Amino acid sequence: MRILGIETSCDETSLCILDAHIDVHTGTTIYTNKSHIIVSQASLHEEYGGVFPAMAKREHQKNIIPALSQLFKKLSPPEDQEILFSEKSNELQTILEREPTVYEFLSQQTDIHNNPNIDAIAVTHGPGLEPALWVGINTAKALGNLWNIPVIPVNHMEGHIWSVYANEESFSLPENTEFPITALLVSGGHTELVLVKDFCDYEIIGQTKDDASGEAFDKIARLLGLSYPGGVHISRLAKQARVNALLNPFTFPRPMMHTPDFNFSFSGLKTSVRYTVDKEIIKDKDILSSEVFQQYIAQETEDAIVDVLTAKTVRAINQYQTKTCIIAGGVSANAQLRIVLKDKLEAMGVTLLVPPLSLTGDNALMIALAGHIQYKKNPDTICGDIRAVGSLSL
Ligand code: KG4
Ligand code: ZN
Repeated sequence: MRILGIETSCDETSLCILDAHIDVHTGTTIYTNKSHIIVSQASLHEEYGGVFPAMAKREHQKNIIPALSQLFKKLSPPEDQEILFSEKSNELQTILEREPTVYEFLSQQTDIHNNPNIDAIAVTHGPGLEPALWVGINTAKALGNLWNIPVIPVNHMEGHIWSVYANEESFSLPENTEFPITALLVSGGHTELVLVKDFCDYEIIGQTKDDASGEAFDKIARLLGLSYPGGVHISRLAKQARVNALLNPFTFPRPMMHTPDFNFSFSGLKTSVRYTVDKEIIKDKDILSSEVFQQYIAQETEDAIVDVLTAKTVRAINQYQTKTCIIAGGVSANAQLRIVLKDKLEAMGVTLLVPPLSLTGDNALMIALAGHIQYKKNPDTICGDIRAVGSLSL
């Protein structure tokens, strides 16, 4: 089975072609990444200090068909087929009524009118920014119509969960996955602890009451005058602080770390950093240009976030007696989080699974994989009327 994956939930336009075939000897599904592309808009959103939805939508509309064309260049050309574009153009125009730019590109880019043996399309339908999600969904519907193949709606967070088994080449899911698994999903929009009971069977056992952990990293980075997305800058500065090993004069709270539940709260941490920064600016108006000051704040911010995430994850593992733990989503790229969790879990005899660094952020490969897992388990999930659901839950 060949799947086209489409991801447009935030500020990355990502597409991939993932082949899934069953090894006749072992019965295992072998996945092969034939082609994968991620077009990031992050630098365009930098000046807004976060993702600006109208611009995200416009960029997806502009990028999605050219990206598809680029993706197809890596595949062997399809056998000659009857090109149906002209007889379907009215229908396609209707499907793409809200995405006229996509229709325009689609009608001009004749190299993608022939289907290179794709059997199904997996597309993110939530959670995320609805205007952005719609671009992916409508494009998937149009291509599904043009090529006469089904479209599978995929939950973005489900994609993040299974990204731990993916890579950019060839991979398979382990023979006997032992459920339940504790999954800590940490991104710009989400921080949740999920009990993975089986493929396609999830229970959210805790989540943030306010800001997501990635959002906290980004907002605190902004207080330090660092560009969006700020997580990676905080991480770099914190690492430097650890190398310098100076005594950090600042202490920030670890909100909700000891509450007997699995929820999180990060907005108090951001407020506390803001007070500290404001106070230090009064003492020295140029303090923000001090690299050492930035390093102190970054280190204590990262430690606070990592401490809370680790404590709650360990609590969940103990309560649900899980032997495997997944961390995924953009913040799972954070080296300190990986180091601290790995050490803690190793001592508990728990296996930690993390995505390869190239797949921690939003990508279509994880969407195609989650789409195939869903299709295998329940082929009926293919439905005609797919809608964008910004607050879609697992
Ligand atoms: O999953 P993702 O790419 O997009 C969403 O679905 O939100 O996550 C993006 C988030 C941003 O907040 C970004 O600052 C954060 O992941 N991030 C990091 C690191 N790399 C990305 N946070 C901390 N440390 C990092 N190394
Ligand atoms: Zn994400």
